Amino acid sequence: MTAKHGWAFCVAIAAFAFAFAFTPTAAAEQRSLSQDWRFSPGDSDGAEQPAYDDRSWRHVTVPHDWSIADKPDGSPPFDRDAKSGQDSGYLPGGIGWYRRHLVLDASEAARTVLIDFEAIYMDADLWINGVHVAKHHYGYTAFTLDLTGKVHAGDNVIAIRVDHADPSSRWYAGSGIIRPATLELLAPVHVDPGSVYVTTPVATAESGRVLARMAIVNGSAKSQEVDVVVRVLSPDGTTVAEERRKTTLAPHARIDDEASLAVRSPALWSPDSPNLYVLEQSVRTQEGVVDTRRTRFGMRSITVDAVNGLRINGKKVVLRGGNIHHDNYMLGATGFPDADARKVALMKAAGYNALRSAHNPASQATLDAADELGMLIVDEAFDAWSKDKKSMDYARFFEDDWQADLDSLVRSGRNHPSVLFWSIGNEIREQGTAAGIETARRMVAHVRRLDATRPVTQAVSTGGRQSDGQFAVLDVAGYNYHAHEFADDHQRCPERVMFTSESTSKDAFAYSRYVETMPWVLGDFVWTAVDYLGETGIGWMGYSQDWQKLGPYPWHLAYCGEIDATGRKRPAAFYREVLWKTGIDPISVFVKQPPGTEDLPDRHLFPITPPHLDWSLDDVHPSWTWPGQEGKPQEVLVYAEYPEVELFLNGKSLGRKAVGVDTQYKATYQVPYAPGRLLAIGYRDGQPAGRWELRTEGEPAAARLSLNRTQFRANGEDLAYLTVELIDADGVPIYAQDHDRDVTMHVDGAGTLAGIGNGDPHDASSFQSGRRRTFHGRVVAAIKASTLAGPVTVRIDVPGLPSRYARIDAVSPP
Ligand code: GAL
Repeated sequence: MTAKHGWAFCVAIAAFAFAFAFTPTAAAEQRSLSQDWRFSPGDSDGAEQPAYDDRSWRHVTVPHDWSIADKPDGSPPFDRDAKSGQDSGYLPGGIGWYRRHLVLDASEAARTVLIDFEAIYMDADLWINGVHVAKHHYGYTAFTLDLTGKVHAGDNVIAIRVDHADPSSRWYAGSGIIRPATLELLAPVHVDPGSVYVTTPVATAESGRVLARMAIVNGSAKSQEVDVVVRVLSPDGTTVAEERRKTTLAPHARIDDEASLAVRSPALWSPDSPNLYVLEQSVRTQEGVVDTRRTRFGMRSITVDAVNGLRINGKKVVLRGGNIHHDNYMLGATGFPDADARKVALMKAAGYNALRSAHNPASQATLDAADELGMLIVDEAFDAWSKDKKSMDYARFFEDDWQADLDSLVRSGRNHPSVLFWSIGNEIREQGTAAGIETARRMVAHVRRLDATRPVTQAVSTGGRQSDGQFAVLDVAGYNYHAHEFADDHQRCPERVMFTSESTSKDAFAYSRYVETMPWVLGDFVWTAVDYLGETGIGWMGYSQDWQKLGPYPWHLAYCGEIDATGRKRPAAFYREVLWKTGIDPISVFVKQPPGTEDLPDRHLFPITPPHLDWSLDDVHPSWTWPGQEGKPQEVLVYAEYPEVELFLNGKSLGRKAVGVDTQYKATYQVPYAPGRLLAIGYRDGQPAGRWELRTEGEPAAARLSLNRTQFRANGEDLAYLTVELIDADGVPIYAQDHDRDVTMHVDGAGTLAGIGNGDPHDASSFQSGRRRTFHGRVVAAIKASTLAGPVTVRIDVPGLPSRYARIDAVSPP
């Protein structure tokens, strides 16, 4: 039963507040279900039965991805004959089973018992105590398993069969419970978790208004007197607005509540100042406080139009965007919150202010990090609707499931200020047809019913008149690669608001000009900001124009990321920083791959005839170590925000050059190679203002370590990333491949090695063995906390170099 009701406002606040302060902890409880899972690959007859003997199954933690795991004999997971081939990076899908015991006491078993799964890839069947309770097809949407009344005191067994039938995806999807799982134990009277919805219809520097909605459920057979307190807590934790009221809930009733709270002089959220507030909704019955929901949100407004572009809080914001896929490279699709958050942080540090979650809903960790760091999100639903792109993809389920999956997308993201647009699809095969337009119309209407505060978009891969019908039903038009149509399309449809939902790095300059000169173009999202598994080799210079021959085995990375799979910025990222005038690296120097040499083998595997279809920028390197090239002219590129640059080789000037829009923010020099120092100086107003130097490296002499954190929580899922870089005796970073070395890592104490990678797109060795060769002088490892507090020690061995040690402290979670 759902009823909109009138609230009796509580005036006797003093007595109420006193009682509130002395109430024991809220009855509603959330527990991570990351630990104690057992997993078995392949099908297992009868494994849904509680008594099934799973003692031989592997112990795993969740999130978990079996596709990235080494084979039982310790060999790497890659398979030349994998059914999904280059799409999945030669990694397999398959069937797998998970089981977990859930021990509850009598009072817990009597409560509302929910398990939230953030994503299971894909086609999952779920049982509790041998009873089939749910089926969830889509591998990227969150869903809740309601076990109320289905569990008993004592031991309960959850069993999950996951069926990742290949080929299901155009990229590496991973397999299994790839995102976190959480148990919620709620009192009979509680807030329906999916109903919480906070918006900020007024958000200016002077005043703000917060609309806080929720549904309160009375799961009991008796009528309940309920007191509700809704508070807004400011970024520093003080209560800045509060509303209280009382109501009566009939047995088994569900009522919708809406509170409207005024906040004076709010600290607004924007990508540059990501101020976050907390909405606290508390429900109290005669038993005390039975539920307290805390939801982080931001106060901000969004407007888009073809005259002013995108405005956040009334100020123009240009989208400096990048696409990402969901995988975490050496961890596969395992969505550890820290791994997902790291990608957002890497992008922010490289000057991006927006990311498109291609082509599926972003994880909560991605959204949380984006809220905190100030990253705008295009949160996308699907890569396929009714027509498939791969025979076993989501198209099999679309007709039946799209509404529930859209619900999940919007409910999971709508309280996050970072979410800018909803995207209903990517390069959908039906786009532009009557059926495709009608489906989009229904989807847009559905999204708006759940959240009318954000524009709805779709990424379309045709431009011009062909797309007019599709774009007409959307708020914002997402162009994949067809930016050359912006001018004509604007002539024809002057109201249309456009952005490039995908572009190539090599077009970065051209696309930045569209954005700068056309107010109706909101920005550009490169394909991709961070490298990813699958679609092997599309960013490779030896990439074939024949789509059937992408990177052959053992290629497994797309290699088009401006940030490589380990987190290292590639030249395209430096160029973009300059185009966007971020001031992060206002000058940088790169050297073109000398003719006749190769960075990666098989470069000429396929004949290349222009126009070349690759997704990468110039074939350049951050290196001045080119033995064998002595005396031969090398092409040196300087990327600079400065109007003038000067290049020096070993102290000798090679001349000053003007840099700017006319030179595409590049200066090019031909420099006869001589080992030593290549130095670029940037001048502003005639004065030296910035510098960048490349030095010829000597033999590797040491391993330099850096950790992204030295402490983590002993919660079984926190990660610390350890970077190992080879340096020579003078501290010059090693880049030349002849100088790459094998690295071995041993992790002892309160943590384990979750994965080690080097970013080499065709090094298909194990991610878990602890051994990896450096790629251009570097490897990166993810160290995972166990559930024990204490020190974690990592020993790093490189033959011929002194052993090094890193230490992380695992502290008990609060
Ligand atoms: C686009 C597609 C992306 C990716 C990219 C590069 O057309 O939307 O998912 O496949 O091409 O291949």
